[in-house]
Amino acid sequence: MAVRRIPLGPANLKDGEMRSYKVGKRDLLIARVNGSYKSLDDWCNHAGCLLSGGRLEENVVVCPCHEIGFDLDSGKNVTSPGVCDDQPAFKAQIEGGQLVVVGDVPEQ
Ligand code: FES
Repeated sequence: MAVRRIPLGPANLKDGEMRSYKVGKRDLLIARVNGSYKSLDDWCNHAGCLLSGGRLEENVVVCPCHEIGFDLDSGKNVTSPGVCDDQPAFKAQIEGGQLVVVGDVPEQ
């Protein structure tokens, strides 16, 4: 899969905030933790709930449906290994005040 560079607009989240961004037919979770932006696929691979509706616990996002937690840097399932896969993780960075996600984000 090809690495893509996707501009998402102004980087205006505060620490501890997260939101979902539409990218084609996908949704990306963007969270800000200690001044750094992080990104995961927003569709939880367990049963498809949106992680952005969950909560942040330091560097982990906890899914609102069944409480599985995923590390925001690696996407690793840190609470329930074996129950579902790790979550696709992407690099999020600021370029000239704009939020940009870089990675093999699926087109569909
Ligand atoms: S859908 Fe996310 S933990 Fe079940």
